[in-house]
Amino acid sequence: MAKLFDPTSFGDIQLANRIVMAPLTRNRSPRAVPNDLNVTYYEQRAAAGLIITEGTPVTQQGQGYADVPGLYLPQAIDGWKKVTDAVHRKGGKIVTQIWHVGRVSHTSLQPNGGAPVAPSAIPAGSKTYVINPDGSGAFVDTSDPRALELSEIPGIVEDFRKGARAAIDAGFDGVEIHGANGYLIDQFLKSGANQRTDEYGGSIENRARFVLEVVDAVTKEIGAGRVGIRLSPVTPGNGITETNPQPLFNYVAEQLGSRGLAFIHVIEGATGGDRNFSQGDKPFDYQEMKAAYRKAGGTGGWLVNNGYDRESAKAAVESGYADAVAFGKLFIANPDLVQRFKDNAPLNEADKSTFYGGGAKGYTDYPALEAVA
Ligand SMILES: Cc1cc2nc3c(=O)[nH]c(=O)nc-3n(C[C@H](O)[C@H](O)[C@H](O)COP(=O)(O)O)c2cc1C
Repeated sequence: MAKLFDPTSFGDIQLANRIVMAPLTRNRSPRAVPNDLNVTYYEQRAAAGLIITEGTPVTQQGQGYADVPGLYLPQAIDGWKKVTDAVHRKGGKIVTQIWHVGRVSHTSLQPNGGAPVAPSAIPAGSKTYVINPDGSGAFVDTSDPRALELSEIPGIVEDFRKGARAAIDAGFDGVEIHGANGYLIDQFLKSGANQRTDEYGGSIENRARFVLEVVDAVTKEIGAGRVGIRLSPVTPGNGITETNPQPLFNYVAEQLGSRGLAFIHVIEGATGGDRNFSQGDKPFDYQEMKAAYRKAGGTGGWLVNNGYDRESAKAAVESGYADAVAFGKLFIANPDLVQRFKDNAPLNEADKSTFYGGGAKGYTDYPALEAVA
């Protein structure tokens, strides 16, 4: 029986334990370049079995929030190198979450102030985070998107490929493709955001075409054993809807099964909310999705997330329900979460007011255990 603290491997990546740091946007990298504060933050959390960085846009067009670090500027690659070196020096493993937000953006963040792009011209109706001229941060409505021309889609697949290459150049152990939470890949997958009538819309096979093209381009570039993907079959985040998620995600899982990926990362329920939330007319069955993946030959790690704590994570791994568990808010507040779980020690509370933007406060100043004692 596997235990939460046992090592495992996700494809070519060796994990010292099954406690994974979930991707967490923190808006502390002005001009899209990782800095020394970001180095300290990730280094503090290097005891995780695997760190998945915050969402990292592969192009400026893929950017939807102010001050997130990208992968498309040479300075950003240099900045990330310092992060990956620091984590590796501490014996940790780190992949970056490669990201295109699609319609969840604002004209002020887009190249030449243009409209954000999406499968169809349907607004997300959600919020994004921008910096005011006086330097303060603010949540504002997302801008109305325009539908991508068919001829533009190969270019975006290519952007993901280049992002994956840049990630390896920056010293990452691999990448997680961001296919979750209502961003571009999820927008293609789900019928509420995709009303295309060409080969990227309509049937399940057509709506899944974009994600599979991205997966194929990225795995060809850096090797499938270094590539994971994050999916959120039912989350309503960023205004995304799907009337029939089960057959869609069973199909995606089956298609991924033959592609040799390192891990599949599934958000169960509404991201950051109700684990039992579902879309469609029956509760989503995650084990059915996993079975479709395994039946198709998928051997990657099955990574689960959303609202787990020490006990539920132990139970998930020990029962074989999952191979590893990702923690978001607990890792924000507890840099030494692995040690605290081992000791069953009390946990720091996360301060929501410092999640997005700001400096060291609420970022690198959460105390580790020895500092508490
Ligand atoms: C501040 C914050 C930023 C987040 N940023 C991202 C992100 O960049 N990419 C992503 O896939 N999920 C993101 N999430 C979602 C988390 O990865 C995770 O799914 C969520 O917090 C639920 O896990 P938890 O209950 O362990 O916190 C974010 C969540 C929070 C609280």
